[in-house]
Amino acid sequence: MGIDQRRWRWRWRNVAVLFGMVVVATTVTASNSNEKQKQVVSRIAFGSCSNQSAPQPIWDAVVDFHPQIFIWLGDNIYGDIKRPFKIFGRERTIGPWKNSPRFVPSSEQEMKARYRKAQSNPGYARLKKDADVIGTWDDHDYGLNDAGKEFDGKITNQKLLLDFLEEPQDSPRRKQAGVYASYTYGPVGQDVKIILLDTRYHRDPVGSDGTILGDSQWIWLEKELKDPPTAVTIIGSSIQVISNLSATTHPLFSMESWGRFPKERDRLFKLIDDSKRGGVFFISGDVHFGEITRYDCASDYPLYDITSSGVTQSIEEVVPAFLHSFVRFVVWSVPSTLRVKSQNCRHRSCIYGQPNFGTIEIDWDSHPVTLQFKVRDKNGVTAAGINASLTELQPTNSETRDRVKAGQNNQKHCTLEVSLPWIVRYRLAIIFFFILFGLLLAFIGLGYASYRLVRLGGCKRKHD
Ligand SMILES: *[C@@H]1O[C@H](CO)[C@@H](O)[C@H](O)[C@H]1NC(C)=O
Ligand SMILES: *[C@@H]1O[C@H](CO)[C@@H](O)[C@H](O)[C@H]1NC(C)=O
Repeated sequence: MGIDQRRWRWRWRNVAVLFGMVVVATTVTASNSNEKQKQVVSRIAFGSCSNQSAPQPIWDAVVDFHPQIFIWLGDNIYGDIKRPFKIFGRERTIGPWKNSPRFVPSSEQEMKARYRKAQSNPGYARLKKDADVIGTWDDHDYGLNDAGKEFDGKITNQKLLLDFLEEPQDSPRRKQAGVYASYTYGPVGQDVKIILLDTRYHRDPVGSDGTILGDSQWIWLEKELKDPPTAVTIIGSSIQVISNLSATTHPLFSMESWGRFPKERDRLFKLIDDSKRGGVFFISGDVHFGEITRYDCASDYPLYDITSSGVTQSIEEVVPAFLHSFVRFVVWSVPSTLRVKSQNCRHRSCIYGQPNFGTIEIDWDSHPVTLQFKVRDKNGVTAAGINASLTELQPTNSETRDRVKAGQNNQKHCTLEVSLPWIVRYRLAIIFFFILFGLLLAFIGLGYASYRLVRLGGCKRKHD
C-alpha cells in the first residue's frame, strides 16, 4: 500500500465519520424539536409593538412567566422612519396642505441593524433560551406604517423577518408570498394549533372593502381549519379581529382592524363556523393597549380576541405622567359593546394603556379544561383577565344553535359598535367638539370684551 493510497483511505474514513456525525446531529436536533413539539403546552405568552431602541424592562416578567412558546404579533421592530409632525415649512407632514409623508421606509441595511438591536436585547435573548419563539408581522416591521400589498419592500423584508425568527433556510415559509404559518404542539387530545396570519402582504387599501388575506392565504387557512381537530386553536392576527374601535372613535381617530373589511371579517367567522372546529380564539396586537373582547353571534360559540400591545409602545407612555388620568378618562368615554368587563381589570374601562404582554394558561387537569387569558403589566401582574372553559368553546348541536340564533341566550356581546345609537357611538367626538365649541365661544367672548374695554377707554379719553 503506497503512502498515497493510505492517505486516500484515511481521508475517506474521515469523510464517512464526519458524514455520520452530521446525520446523527441532524436527527438529534430534529427529534429534539419533535420532542419539544410533543410536550403538553400549558403556558403561552405573546406580545407586539416593540421599539428596538427603547428600554425593554418587560422581558424580565415575560421570562419569569416561563412560557413554553412566545408569539410575536407584529411591529416586532420599528423598521420605518417617522418624521415629526410639521404644519409649516418644506417638509410639512400634517394637514391637507402636507407635502411629505409622515413615514418612510428605511434601507435594507438599516432594517438589518434594527433587527440586530432587537435580537441582542439581553432580556429577549434570555427568553429565547427557554421558549420557542414564533411570529408574524404588522406594518412597521413589514416596512411602512399602515402599508398593504402595494409596498415594494415586502420581499426583502420577508427574508429579514424570517431571519430574525430564525426560520430554517430550507423552510417553505421562505418561498411563499407572505409570512403566514401554522404550528401544532402537544400530544393528541391536548394538542394546540397556532395559526399565524399575514395581514399585510396581500392586503388591499383600507376603505376598499377588498381582501386582507388574499386568495392563496384564504385557501391555506381553509385547509388549516378543516384539518383534523385539535383541542385548542389559536389564530394570531396582527390587527384586532373582534373590536372595531374606528366605529366609535371616528372622525377623531381611525385604527386598522378586521372590522374595516366587513366582508372579509364575515368570511373569517363563517369559515370558523363551517369548519365545526372547537376551541378557537384570536390573539392580536397593534393598538398600543391591552384588552379582551368577545363576540357571541359570529359562530355558535363565543369568539374571544385577546389583544396585547405593546412591549414598549403604549397610549399612556406617549404623554407625561400627569396626563395619564386624562388618557384613562378618554379611553373610558369611548363606548364598547364587545369588551369583556371583569373584576380582574386594573381600570374601570378594562383597557390597559401601559406596556404589557399577553398570556394563555391551559389547565389540562381541571374538569372541564380551563383557559386563562390575561393581559399582564411590566411586572407580570394581571391588568385584565378572564377564564373560559374549553366546553364553552365547542360547536353546539343544532338545537342549541337554533336557540342561540333565536336570541334566547345571553346577547350581551352581540351588538356591534356600529349599531349603537349615534349619541352613544360618537360620544368621544361629541365631547371633543363640545369642548372645542366652548373654547371658541370663550375666545370670541374674550375678544369682544377686550374690544369693548378698549373702545370704552378710547371714549373716556375723548371726553377728558
Ligand atoms: C424608539 O425609541 C427611541 C429611543 O427612545 C426613540 O428615539 C424613537 O423615536 C422611538 N421610536 C418609536 C417609533 O417610538
Ligand atoms: C367598523 O367601523 C367602520 C367605521 O365606522 C365601519 O365602516 C365598518 O362597517 C365597521 N365594521 C363592522 C363589522 O361593524
